[in-house]
Amino acid sequence: MKPTYRIAPSLLSANFAKLGEEVVNVIAAGADWIHFDVMDNHYVPNLTIGPLVCEALRPLTQACIDVHLMVKPVDRIVPDFAKAGANLITFHPEASEHVDRTLSLIRECGCQAGLVFNPATPLEYMDHVLDKLDMVLLMSVNPGFGGQQFIPETLNKLRLARAKLDAYSARSGRQILLEIDGGVKVDNIAAIARAGADTFVAGSAVFGAASKSDPHCYDSVIAKLRGELSGI
Ligand code: DX5
Ligand code: ZN
Repeated sequence: MKPTYRIAPSLLSANFAKLGEEVVNVIAAGADWIHFDVMDNHYVPNLTIGPLVCEALRPLTQACIDVHLMVKPVDRIVPDFAKAGANLITFHPEASEHVDRTLSLIRECGCQAGLVFNPATPLEYMDHVLDKLDMVLLMSVNPGFGGQQFIPETLNKLRLARAKLDAYSARSGRQILLEIDGGVKVDNIAAIARAGADTFVAGSAVFGAASKSDPHCYDSVIAKLRGELSGI
């Protein structure tokens, strides 16, 4: 059966002076989720947005706010994002001393939980916590910046992750989403989907289409991304 595909524009490449408008416009253009990149200048060498911004954006959309934590430590900030209206919270296993405990904490706070795998991080981190995962996120760039090139080896890693998640779904009856983040464009999204991803973060590909005068500037790029997916 063909999976349901989700497109999640990353606010990292949005106009930070108009974040609210960007959220409204990109969802009106057909995006499914909002990908919310949180960087702390410690786990990754960049600094972005936190729970206060999430709380400010929350009333503007019903769409899932997909919070990608690139912070260390993780646990301290989880309840703040849950209160700020995050739907899904993912984190990097290297950034938490106790991965299983952090996953439980995210669910106890009422959010869905996921693990993020850097390009060199082995998939084995998921093996003993599958019951606590709602999503697995594979990074196809090193985290910290938008606008980087997709790392081709990620396609092999996606196929391995897909096999693990399909095997888990067959024995548990439970579906875990498989998201990809970094360098996703119109010209590679179909190959990425064929390798097994069902949820696609796209930052520069979407917000790079920004135009000061056209509030519908994101319609065409999102339609093109979807068109590629419908052709699979
Ligand atoms: C990188 C972030 C990504 C990034 C993707 O650390 O996690 O979400 O914004 O941006 P593009 O799509 O431009 O690679
Ligand atoms: Zn991200």
